[in-house]
Amino acid sequence: MIILACDHAGFPLKEQIKAFFNSENITTIDVGTYSSEPVDYPDYAKAGCERVLENKQNIGIFICGTGIGMSIASNRNPNIRAALCSSTEVASFARKHNDANVLILAGRYMNKNKAIKAIKAFLTTDFEKGRHAIRIKKL
Ligand code: RB5
Repeated sequence: MIILACDHAGFPLKEQIKAFFNSENITTIDVGTYSSEPVDYPDYAKAGCERVLENKQNIGIFICGTGIGMSIASNRNPNIRAALCSSTEVASFARKHNDANVLILAGRYMNKNKAIKAIKAFLTTDFEKGRHAIRIKKL
C-alpha cells in the first residue's frame, strides 16, 4: 500500500500526486494534512510512519516544503529508511542501495512531472541486497 503524508507546504504537491495515483486506479492511504492550513510536519511524519510500518510491502511518500523536516522526523524510526530525493536517478539509488521505504519530496522545490518520474523510479526499482544489505543491517 502507498501511504501519503504531508504538511501544509507539501499539500499542493501531495494533492497532485494523489490525483495521479487515482487516475492510475492505484489506491493510496492519505494520512493528511488535508489543507494549506499550517501544521507541524513531525505529526504527519509520525502518522505516515505508523502506517508504513504496518506492512513490509508498504511504501511512504512524504512531502514538506524542503523535504528536510519530514526526513529528520521519519528517520527517527529504526525501521524507516526515508530518502529525500531530488531526481529520478537519486530515487532509484535510494531503492537499489538503501532499500528506502519512504520517498521524501520537497514540495516547494519540485514540480508535479518531476515528482511523478521520481515516484515511478522509486516504485519500480528493487533493492540490490549483497553489500548493501550488510550496510543496512549496520544502521
Ligand atoms: C514549513 O514552512 C516548512 O518549514 C516545512 O514544510 C519543512 O520544509 C521543514 O523542513
